Amino acid sequence: LCRVRYRGGGGAASATCSPLSSADLPLRHIPGDYGLPFLGPLCDRLAYFYFEGRDQFFRSRIRRYGSTVFRVNLPPGPFVAPDPRVVALLDAASFPVLFDASLVDKRDLFTGNFLPSTDLTGSFRVLSYLDPAEPNHAPLKRLLFFLLASHRHALVLEFRRAYGALFDAMEVGIAKEGKADFGAANDRAAFDFLSQCLFGVDPARSSLVLDGPRLINKWLLFQIGPLLKLGLPAYLEDFLLHSFRLPPALVRADYTRLVEFFRDSAGPALDEAKRFGVSRDEALHNVLFAVCFNGFGGIKFLFPSIIKWLGRSGARLHGRIAEEVRSAVRDAGGEVTFRSLESAMPLVRSVVYEVLRMEPPVPLQYGRAKRDMEVASHDARFPVRAGEVLVGYQPLATRDPRVFERAEEFVAERFVGAEGEALLRHVVWSNGPETETSTAENKQCAGKEFVVTVARLLVAELFLRYDSFEIEVGPSPVAAAVRLTSLKRATF
Ligand code: HEM
Repeated sequence: LCRVRYRGGGGAASATCSPLSSADLPLRHIPGDYGLPFLGPLCDRLAYFYFEGRDQFFRSRIRRYGSTVFRVNLPPGPFVAPDPRVVALLDAASFPVLFDASLVDKRDLFTGNFLPSTDLTGSFRVLSYLDPAEPNHAPLKRLLFFLLASHRHALVLEFRRAYGALFDAMEVGIAKEGKADFGAANDRAAFDFLSQCLFGVDPARSSLVLDGPRLINKWLLFQIGPLLKLGLPAYLEDFLLHSFRLPPALVRADYTRLVEFFRDSAGPALDEAKRFGVSRDEALHNVLFAVCFNGFGGIKFLFPSIIKWLGRSGARLHGRIAEEVRSAVRDAGGEVTFRSLESAMPLVRSVVYEVLRMEPPVPLQYGRAKRDMEVASHDARFPVRAGEVLVGYQPLATRDPRVFERAEEFVAERFVGAEGEALLRHVVWSNGPETETSTAENKQCAGKEFVVTVARLLVAELFLRYDSFEIEVGPSPVAAAVRLTSLKRATF
């Protein structure tokens, strides 16, 4: 455990930590209760989605119990998830227990305390649902590492091609209608980019034509619908979306089209599967899931969030980023390179980490206690019994005011310099500290490096083309609904 001391003024907390053993903290029973069977979970679910909203749901209970660790029911509950009882972890001290494979079992907890029907994933429990202790976790993860590494050379080029086309389309939209919707265009660009980069295939010239994003969005809805709020009238939506599983048969034909596309396009990666000890069929459904759920799904949330936070930050920050990006690209002979993204654009790097801190795209992480143990918040130790499900709501862990100064503010340069670097271990969007590496033995996101690279590329591409831009943000049930209202072309 570590208590972080603050310095006045800047965005970063001081890197000096005074070690504080959790053994020094008082032992406390976990506050909170689950209420009556069925009714307790139902009331908590309505509060979570409709009466309070997600953030307020957690914050109001922190105040009520005077604790960042408490018992609560988490959606979806009846009848989708048989047992919604969890222990919530809502601070930067207790959250990391979820990364310790010796303490928590991650089996079947990727989307929460329910496993979507395996009919949606070719009858396989795909990698995201496997605990590292399961025998096919490591081989599948190595296969994905191989897929990502073997196409690294195409990444920058294909990204710039797909997102260059996106910004061209945004300019046309703004000229015609005064605004252009980033979300739908981002879906298209993300899928084009992922398939061109990883398989060298243009989806528009395949059997999918332009249908890929629509098919994936529908398939995603069938898996994570019970966790979403789509904006229908509350009780109707709660009944339709959160109380029962949508029948997988309704999306079977769409999934089959996606499978055919991946069977045709991902051939070389699938050819390698045997070498990793994975059957071709299992590899096919896993590659599809990694690209469409993990990759496409992640970018769908992350990129609008980047545009939103940058858009809100205004022209002064835009000017500073544009100067940094253009000078780094000039120094690299006019190219955007991995090296310049990593070491010559500290502000771009920091901005991306700050977005991931403010709005981690996958907000909830789950793990089941492997044995009786204690979990420590900043203030107390709590006994947890073997088998209990622990859930971290990440935005509260990464906005923990005892770790981050001005924790609720977007501070663009927060992660610049040595003090900023020291804070990176508290950025945990990838299901692990940013300072650690995803391996075949842990549950950290297999695409961790890929994701920060493409996020930096988005910022770099934006400010190579434009000096500044403006946005409007509408209400949205899923990812931030961002519309670009102006793009000011680069003048220097
Ligand atoms: C796992 C986030 C993109 C592959 C995870 C987890 C998170 C995450 C939070 C852990 C979930 C849990 O166990 O609780 C994201 C975000 C992305 C993204 C926000 C994009 C913005 C990608 C990409 C790939 C990928 C591009 C690969 C193509 C995986 C895999 C796992 C995973 C395979 C499971 C790892 C394991 O079982 O050990 N991701 N991810 N992700 N991610 Fe990502």
